[in-house]
Formats: sequence, C-alpha cells, structure tokens
Amino acid sequence: MLNAERIREDFPILKRKVYGKPLVYLDNAATTQKPRQVIQAMNDYYETYNSNVHRAVHRLSQEATEAYDEAHEKVASFIAAKGMEEVAFTKNTTESINVLAGSLSRQLQKNDEIVLTQMEHHSNIVPWQQAAKRAGAKLRFLEIDGNGELKLQQLRETIGKKTKIVAFTHVSNVLGTINPAREIIAAAKEIGALTVVDAAQSVPHMPVSVKELGCDFMAFSAHKMLGPTGVGVLYGKEELLEKIEPVIYGGDMISEVSFEDAKWNELPWKFEAGTPNMAGAVGLAAAVDYLQKVGMENVHQHEKILTRKAMERLKQIEDLTIYGPEAGKRGGLVAFNVNGVHTHDVSAILDAEGIAVRGGHHCTMPLARLLGIPGTTRASFYLYNTNEEIDKLADALEMVTAKMNKPAMTTTQGKAAK
Ligand code: ALA
Repeated sequence: MLNAERIREDFPILKRKVYGKPLVYLDNAATTQKPRQVIQAMNDYYETYNSNVHRAVHRLSQEATEAYDEAHEKVASFIAAKGMEEVAFTKNTTESINVLAGSLSRQLQKNDEIVLTQMEHHSNIVPWQQAAKRAGAKLRFLEIDGNGELKLQQLRETIGKKTKIVAFTHVSNVLGTINPAREIIAAAKEIGALTVVDAAQSVPHMPVSVKELGCDFMAFSAHKMLGPTGVGVLYGKEELLEKIEPVIYGGDMISEVSFEDAKWNELPWKFEAGTPNMAGAVGLAAAVDYLQKVGMENVHQHEKILTRKAMERLKQIEDLTIYGPEAGKRGGLVAFNVNGVHTHDVSAILDAEGIAVRGGHHCTMPLARLLGIPGTTRASFYLYNTNEEIDKLADALEMVTAKMNKPAMTTTQGKAAK
C-alpha cells in the first residue's frame, strides 16, 4: 500500500490554501500536480545542460541528447514496449491521435469503417471524423448500456469485415469505466483491423502493458501522470511505425534531403519533427521514475479505495445522481449531478470550500447528449489524495443539497452547460 500522507510531502502545491482553506485537488483527470522530483529534474536541465538534441557534438548537446533518449527508453519500459523505437514524443494525447488519424487515413478507402465507442473524448472522435471524410470512410460506434459499460454483445456486429481501425478509450474520462481492452483488441485482430488505445486516463493510474494488451498503437500525456504539459506519447508496434507515413515534416525527422525529395529518419525520430520539448521529456522521465518507485499496482489499489469510499458516501446523498458503473469496474473518478443544480454552481460551491473539481461536458459532448444532460461535476483522484479529502467532498456536497432545499438558493438551473 502507498502512504498518501508521505507522498503529499513531495508536492509543494498541495500545501497551499484556497480562500483560507486547505486545497483539496480532485481534478486529476484534467491534469495532475507535479512532485518536487519532476520540477527539480526540469530545473536541472535548464540550469545545467540545456541544449538542442541530436544536432551538435558539444558537451551540453551530448548530455541533453542522452537524457532525451533515455526518457524514451524509460517510457518504453514503463508500458512494456520493445524499446525506444516504439515510442515517439508528441505534444499530448490529442496530437498523438491526430498523427495516427492523419497517417492511417491515407490507407483508407471509400466505405471502409472506423469503429469508436460512444464514450470517447473529442480527441478520439474529431480526428477520425476528419480522416473518414477525407477517405469517404464511415464511423461506427460501440454503444454503451445504462451502467455506462460497453455493450460487448454487439462487439462482433459493430466490428465487421469493413472495419479497418478500432480506436477506443481504455478508461472513460467521464464514466470512469475501465473498458475490456484485450477483448476489443482481440475482436479487431480477428478481422485484421488496426487498434488504437487512448490511454490518457489509464497509463497514469494502473499498470498498462502494450505487450499484454497487444494493441497496435497507444496515446497518452505526461501531464496526467505527474509530468509536465507539452509532452505526449505515441506508441506503435515497430513494424507498423516503420510502415506508416509521418504527417509533420521538418528537421530531425529526415535522414536525407535534396531539393526534390526527402527520406525519413529511423524510429522514433521519424515522428518527431523540429526541436522537441527536451525539458518536458526530462520531466516525464522523472515522473516515470517516481511512479515506478511507488508502484503502479499500489497507485491503482489506492485509487480503488478512494473511489469506493467516494461512491459509498455520494450514494447516500439524496438528490445526487452518479454516472457510470460500480466502483470495482471504474478508474479513480466519479462524475455526478446534484439534481436541480447546475454543474457550474456545484463546482463553484465546492471551490469556495477549497475543493477543485471539474464541471461541464469534459470534452465528450456526444456522450453528454446521449445521457441527456448538459454535463456533470467530476471528482478525479490520484496517489496523493486521502480518505479525509473524500469526506470533505461528501460533506460539502451534503451542504450543497441542504442549501438547495432552502427556498433562498438561486441556481442557474436549466441553463445549458457551455
Ligand atoms: N481530457 C481532460 C479531462 O477529461 C482534459 O478533463
């Protein structure tokens, strides 16, 4: 088991107060806080060896290149990839998926099908919509049931002969649902479709092995796993990354250029055009070190305890609707609505108590529409959150519902979420 109180010591921001109250940071699905070790690693980079990578022979450039390449190795080992050739750095999950959609769309033909799920984030819908439009291909969606789980009985109806790509979220950023990735990937493989896993909400929170999953591609972001913003990961099987074309061109991604044409660099650099985010990569490596020291299974178990407790307490609150499956089937987040109170009002009342949550559609408008709601309030947990913080959240929500039942309470009830 991990010791959250001990871990909190590493996070300077968690000592701050908001409106005179201790910060209770429960917006980890949006972005996570950074431990001193990550901040220090990035400071060290800028203070002692800041230099461009893969370009010069001087000492600083050698040190920066070594650290930058090592960051790829660390990430590769973290997700059990074969090696750094299978791990390219991008800007974020969104960019990774855009690169894949842009590149794979060139192989698509009219009436080919791309299968997504109804619980996807915009970043795993919009790039495929555009890819489908370019190629004349069609999108199909694996449906969800009333519990916010995928209707697996429809898996082999939805993934069919025409399916060329299956792209799905490993863990939903709204429902919390942990999707049966292996089963979906196996179904896609049966008909020879490529698989893309949006792991933005899974890799930071539980052990994830691309080897075990057998996926072709995966995308996730450093900033959701204790690392800095501006670094994302694009994983791909070596033989596939060798085959597909890059979509961003420029320096370092080439091996040879003439006035007429160019040849691509070896993996993973073929997918990393231009000066990359070197300090960010160093920060991501430090984040991976930190998470590995704590142990991903410990992180997962800790979040399970927090989620179970949150669900138990929130279920007891009258006038509160929780979305998604039971605690055992979800990652470390709970999205809900206080009936009759707009999610932005709920978030504002919690904020006044020092509790940071996110309210709105969470970049999943089609899912919100399907659920018939403008949005939800979402509390999302991480390794530094404590049972006491869950109690603070539940106590504050009890206060919201108590206030709501008093006639003086004014809300923006009925207004659509922006
Ligand atoms: N995708 C992030 C979230 O769900 C930003 O909040």
